[in-house]
Amino acid sequence: MSANLSRRAWLKKGLFASGALSLGAALPMNALGTPFKEDDQYIYYGNGLREVKALAVPGWSDLKAKLNANENPYGPSPKALEAFVKQAPEGNYYSWYPLKDLIDKIAEKEGVKAENIMMGPGSSDLLEKTAIVSFIKGGNVVSGDPPYMSLINVAKSMGGEWKPVKLTKDYQHDLDKMEAAIDEDTKIVYVTNPNNPTGTVTDHKALYKFVERVSEKALVFVDEAYIELSDHGIEASMAPLVAQGKNVIVSRTFSKIHGMAGIRVGYVVGLEETLGGIQKITRGGMGITGSSIMAASASMDDSEFLEMSKTKIAEARKYTFDMLDSKGIQYMPSQTNFIIFPIEMEGKAFLNKMYEQKVGVRAFEFWDQNWCRVSMGTIEDMKLFTSAFENTIG
Ligand SMILES: Cc1ncc(COP(=O)(O)O)c(C=O)c1O
Repeated sequence: MSANLSRRAWLKKGLFASGALSLGAALPMNALGTPFKEDDQYIYYGNGLREVKALAVPGWSDLKAKLNANENPYGPSPKALEAFVKQAPEGNYYSWYPLKDLIDKIAEKEGVKAENIMMGPGSSDLLEKTAIVSFIKGGNVVSGDPPYMSLINVAKSMGGEWKPVKLTKDYQHDLDKMEAAIDEDTKIVYVTNPNNPTGTVTDHKALYKFVERVSEKALVFVDEAYIELSDHGIEASMAPLVAQGKNVIVSRTFSKIHGMAGIRVGYVVGLEETLGGIQKITRGGMGITGSSIMAASASMDDSEFLEMSKTKIAEARKYTFDMLDSKGIQYMPSQTNFIIFPIEMEGKAFLNKMYEQKVGVRAFEFWDQNWCRVSMGTIEDMKLFTSAFENTIG
């Protein structure tokens, strides 16, 4: 297969159906459609949510401030880096032993058994694998609106239906309406807390009761990619519900507070039978390198780094909130390493002007409004963002 053959073309050619992947035999006829439409202007996720595409995105090294992917400028921790390099000479071996040790360490931290943990190269891998396995026979996914799209895109590709429920006026998940949206075809109720792209939190005590109740009807997937950065930190996690036998999957990542987005480690906590069902079809852990495993383990122990990371990100957030306040712009109250706020100009023109100044951000449209989402870099990055933003809005 030629390297530049697109995935869509590959699927059209029927290689998938010919058994190129082991999942092929189990897939329904309508599976693996395109989850969203795309043109030169936008990616259309549906339900009025679309992402603006920039005319020309400068190369990574040409950007003065890369604030478009919610990365953490402070990572990886020096201890994680040291562990990463130290493990590299063992690269001729599969990494089962280090992986087992990391799983045990995570299980202990989460107060569950090793069987309740599934690892992946980032949490995207686990969101998508859960969706592949859950939607093989169709069904629907109930989520907030706007949500993080990764799990939903895969669910839609597999033939699943997306049932978005608009966030409340204070940008929390509307738990009552989400519960009402559940029906006999609901395979997953997907909650991201804090949410992306809004950065806002849903009250964790209300969420806990919701998950306790609703997990009797359908699997609840709580994506906690940013939870360590939120005010309550992991105290607000839904992971303890797993030890109580509730059918919830909680995902975490080393990409955000640990600053290891490019090192690729994530995990989920869930019931043994639920994770077992996913791993029968798609193996967990296989995509993580030994170096990444050792870096993740070292980073977990580096509480000084993690505290510094949270503090610095909060400082950048405060700086950006103050700047937006000074202009009377009403941003959403983020507890993450990004902030979304409304822009009163056309999203495409906005994004192009920001990129012309070599400052990378994202622009979305939802709720009939244009929005800019900016990730928290260093204070220096936020100053560059501020001046590019001021030039852009005039
Ligand atoms: C809400 C949310 N979940 C999951 C991810 C996936 O992150 P990763 O695959 O790096 O763990 C992201 C990345 O930005 C995210 O925002």
